[in-house]
Amino acid sequence: MKIIVVAGARPNFMKIAPIVRGFKMHGTGLKGDELIWRLVHTGQHYDYEMSQTFFEELEIPQPDYFLNAGSGSHAEQTAKVMIEFEKVCNAEKPDVIVVVGDVNSTLACSITAKKLNIKVSHVEAGLRSGDMTMPEEINRIVTDSISDYLFVTEKSGLENLEREGRSSNVFFVGNVMIDTLFFQLEKLRKQVKKGENKAEVQVERGDKKSKYAVVTLHRPSNVDDKDTLRGIMEALIRISEDMPVMFPAHPRTKKNIESFGLMNNINSSGIEMLPSLPYMAFLQLWKDASLVLTDSGGLQEETTALGVPCFTIRENTERPVTIDEGTNVLVGTTKQGILSEYTAFRNGTSKKGRVPELWDGKAAERIVDLLIR
Ligand code: UD1
Repeated sequence: MKIIVVAGARPNFMKIAPIVRGFKMHGTGLKGDELIWRLVHTGQHYDYEMSQTFFEELEIPQPDYFLNAGSGSHAEQTAKVMIEFEKVCNAEKPDVIVVVGDVNSTLACSITAKKLNIKVSHVEAGLRSGDMTMPEEINRIVTDSISDYLFVTEKSGLENLEREGRSSNVFFVGNVMIDTLFFQLEKLRKQVKKGENKAEVQVERGDKKSKYAVVTLHRPSNVDDKDTLRGIMEALIRISEDMPVMFPAHPRTKKNIESFGLMNNINSSGIEMLPSLPYMAFLQLWKDASLVLTDSGGLQEETTALGVPCFTIRENTERPVTIDEGTNVLVGTTKQGILSEYTAFRNGTSKKGRVPELWDGKAAERIVDLLIR
């Protein structure tokens, strides 16, 4: 059997790492083996700190193909990936491809493969925000609707897929993002024990006893609109009066903060702007935070897995288990919304959570077993 695994953007890399590790346990993946696999990087994210650093830290092998899709409008980016991925599929003739998550590369490669009659497996299937203004929601729905095998992270995914008429080849396997989290956390612990912790050097605010918050923001609906971004930044500036706010910024966010003229206020506040961080440095930072504020999908899940309080700066989430069972709270995108939840948090009423079912570090093993079977 020949499998192509696809990754394109930063949040994909943590999801393919344990799957590739699972494949490696079944042999070299080369010609003559029972399982032959190839890795494709679409190049949707291309900066060193958005891409290569994750390959290094997560021990992902160099891709067999790099498609160089780069940035552009949604149509341009999707089209470029499709054109280049079709060439790879024609050359390699895989039996099945594996796509993860909900980025434009996920959509582009699943459509391309399906039209060549190649089976499509979607890891992280069934998540729905109900918000069709989110590009990722469109990517999720289209990808799931044409996928042959659907691997689901939480029970809401099973319900969503059933409602959409999908009942066969749907597998509740757990969360590959959490596989990576537990794997890398163990590595971090060993590094710290041996005094070889490189991440510590990069995050110099090493005073773990003082409280601090960590922020990530990148969603176009939050960072491309000046008034929305200003309101969010004002809330963060207020929080930074109580504790340092560490803010590793996505390239899109950094560019907009500068062009909207918001940098001066940030510079005179307790917000510390950082570049996008590598996986380990970021893990070390957020795992000890008093509070994480984010509009990311993955970080909602990761904070729930480690029991770190999380404010999601969005009106909805496709990952409801992080709210129903985890530490996540939806706070909306306005200054008032964020600060009113923050007041409750400061008064000690932050919610406690538990780790959702099957988020046990073994999701990729289940997926690889199912694919081989
Ligand atoms: C993409 C995903 C989003 C995911 C996010 C994580 C889609 C629709 N969106 O959004 O779901 O949560 O990645 O980061 O696929 N840029 C760089 N360097 C890079 C990549 C991008 O500077 O390596 C800049 C470019 O100016 C680009 C912008 O960031 O136009 C946005 O990149 P893009 O891949 O279009 O979307 P993201 O906002 O990163």
